[in-house]
Amino acid sequence: MRWLKITLHEHDVLVVGSGLAGLRVAIQLAKDFDVAILTKVHPLRSHSVAAQGGINASLGTGDSWEQHAFDTVKGSDYLADQDVVEILAKEAPRAIIENERWGTAFSRTEDGKIAQRPFGGAMFPRTCYAADRTGHNLLHTTFEQALRVGVKFYNEWFVTSLVRDGDHVCGLTAFDISTGDVHSFAGKAVVIATGGFGRVYSHSTNAVINTGDGCALAFRIGAPLKDMEFIQFHPTTLFGSSILMSEGARGEGGYLVNALGERFMDKYAPEKMELAPRDIVARAIKTEINEGRGIDDQYIHLDLRHLGKDKILERLPGIREISIYFAGVDPIDEPIPIRPGQHYSMGGIHCDKNGMTPIEGLYAVGEAACMSVHGANRLGGNSLLETLVFGRIVGQRIAEYLPNAQRPSSTCVEDEAFKIRHKLQEWLLKDKGENPSEIREVMGETMDRLVGVFRKESDLKAALTMIRELKERFKNVFAGHSDKRFNYSLIRILELENMLDLAESIAMGALMRRESRGAHWRLDYPERDDENFLKHSLFTKVEDYVKTEIIPVNLGMFDVKERTY
Ligand code: FUM
Repeated sequence: MRWLKITLHEHDVLVVGSGLAGLRVAIQLAKDFDVAILTKVHPLRSHSVAAQGGINASLGTGDSWEQHAFDTVKGSDYLADQDVVEILAKEAPRAIIENERWGTAFSRTEDGKIAQRPFGGAMFPRTCYAADRTGHNLLHTTFEQALRVGVKFYNEWFVTSLVRDGDHVCGLTAFDISTGDVHSFAGKAVVIATGGFGRVYSHSTNAVINTGDGCALAFRIGAPLKDMEFIQFHPTTLFGSSILMSEGARGEGGYLVNALGERFMDKYAPEKMELAPRDIVARAIKTEINEGRGIDDQYIHLDLRHLGKDKILERLPGIREISIYFAGVDPIDEPIPIRPGQHYSMGGIHCDKNGMTPIEGLYAVGEAACMSVHGANRLGGNSLLETLVFGRIVGQRIAEYLPNAQRPSSTCVEDEAFKIRHKLQEWLLKDKGENPSEIREVMGETMDRLVGVFRKESDLKAALTMIRELKERFKNVFAGHSDKRFNYSLIRILELENMLDLAESIAMGALMRRESRGAHWRLDYPERDDENFLKHSLFTKVEDYVKTEIIPVNLGMFDVKERTY
């Protein structure tokens, strides 16, 4: 309906996503530029709020940025770009101190220093924490700063497309969830900070909002995705609900115990035991269950009882509360039933260490981005860190870019908004078709079963066939509700469209990578193959197909070695 006007908004910078990464970019820029954040939920409901165990920085005597960098590179199974890791590790203390000064209530040692706990794959206790609610604390203080510096927020707006004008991005389209009206947004720079895409899987620690919208939108205008096959499965998610049971629980001394009452990690990582990197611990737990040593053949126990009531109440209050409410188990008296579940996306939008994508003016940061700082396996505590360190750096880079950037033409975004409005109306007016929740369920179940902790060619091919079938079915999807206001059926459809594209590239990458590295474990190719696969994978949408390529890894600081723990 072209006769209804499209409202146009203009800002220097449009940030999509209001978690820690998006907020930190915006804070960096808001003093000098007009910055807007668009978010499909209130900022304090962004998924950063759910991060539990902590944030890494080499603050302690005896630790160093070099050791932090080494642990990160080794943990990544040598796939991380080492120049990016260097920045992460060097800048970490600065990020912690900045947030501490902003008011984050970090837990303290007896003598008042910021407390640090051991985390997986680290040779030093370098994970700073606020009990087991670290993300919650950081998000609140960072959000306060964004308000202080005058960032403009569009809360509960759903971004429907990015708009490209030749070789540069010129803005985006979005609709206000409360009215359903589509608007156009012109901007000199667009930053994707929409987090990960864990909801492509059924069993995930991710919030239901983590549908990878920004990654899929960038992909659709030609930005490549990178290393999509590397999906992190967190070893300890609550059996039944898949809620995160923080690595902090093992950092504080928790044990993993099988149905025979054995602490089995000595078979898999004799030195690090429960604090080996996540990929190794997740495979160990799966192996115990697959070989018949799981409890009821389904889960194993995370046992905290020996830590004692006081420590549990002080350091792990959230874990206790979640266990009581969602599993009916009080960890002070009983072990917690856990199993591995999807947790993090190492892959994402291909960009450099400044967040620059190959499309001029389009930037990516945080979990949505793949710089790549985590390689094939991220260490716990490096994700919150990445958001703050690179949020600031990406903001700085955009500040350098803006003075010479072209002011985008408003017509380019307005034309796109008319197209999007038409697409949404078609869905709203349809009275029958495919049920999106059925497609979503099959997608999640397929990814869990066939593209999980252990992978093999026949499964991956079957997954790819199924995802492509679902994409076909999606073409005939219908919303079931025609009201434009607060139409969450429509939002679920848009999210599903995004997730199907991402699921396809995950399965394609997993099939293409015929080796085992980090979180990607091929039963049919159980060795790491540096000769052929010490490479990043790239996925680019070209018309109706996905082009795959491999590109080199930036090595340098540390030699590539075997990985034992
Ligand atoms: O286990 C956790 O608390 C998660 C931390 C992380 O993913 O970095």
